[in-house]
Amino acid sequence: MGNDMLRVKGYFHKTAEEFDSIYTGDKNRLAWFLDRLLRRDMFDRFNLALSECGDVRGKRVLDVGCGSGRYSVALAERGAGKVVGIDFAENMIDLSERLAAEQGVGDVCEFICDDFLSYDFELDFHISLAIGFFDYTEKPLPFLKKMRDITLEKVIATFPRKWTYRMPIRKARLTLKGCPVYFYAESDIADLLGKAGFKSFHMRKVGKIYLVVARPRGGYL
Ligand SMILES: C[S@@+](CC[C@H](N)C(=O)[O-])C[C@H]1O[C@@H](n2cnc3c(N)ncnc32)[C@H](O)[C@@H]1O
Repeated sequence: MGNDMLRVKGYFHKTAEEFDSIYTGDKNRLAWFLDRLLRRDMFDRFNLALSECGDVRGKRVLDVGCGSGRYSVALAERGAGKVVGIDFAENMIDLSERLAAEQGVGDVCEFICDDFLSYDFELDFHISLAIGFFDYTEKPLPFLKKMRDITLEKVIATFPRKWTYRMPIRKARLTLKGCPVYFYAESDIADLLGKAGFKSFHMRKVGKIYLVVARPRGGYL
């Protein structure tokens, strides 16, 4: 694992609880208010990404960089047949397992603590998600290729936009904390998807991110 990946892994291992508190709102009033104001995209992308998944009943879903398991558990609650979440930060996986058990979907969910790129999956998946994941990959292409290889119907991913007013602030904040972060122009994403072999995709601007839905094996969206 390269240096940048080790720094991402260390950062999310250390800040797992703090990350999850964005979803739970379990923080002081000012911090809660700032999250609602500045991290609105996180809430919007949650609703939009889940609605792009469509009817997941009985389907196998992969959640790449599952973090604290919020998407995995929501998909299991919507009736997915099997949800696999993978994240290399151990504390994130602990939170995911705890949440799935609390919500009564522990039997549908499997959480794997490993690097997505090196892990050998025995299954393929109808839908794969990578939400808030490409923010932290220095070389996204091999990740996209692997997602395409193991997905049957849809890959859903987000990419933070270049040149927004938040970009330099976020870059500075995360750099100070020792975590690398990467941003994308629409043309960068189109180029990556093409090189990864996706035949059709659509991309939507959602605040400071792009939400992408791509077909691994051609066909229309
Ligand atoms: C910002 S979090 C997003 C979590 C979740 N998808 C969400 O939106 O709530 C990104 C996660 O990706 C994980 N991650 C980054 N690179 C990874 C890799 N190569 N393999 C596995 N997990 C990775 C990090 O540990 C982190 O928990």
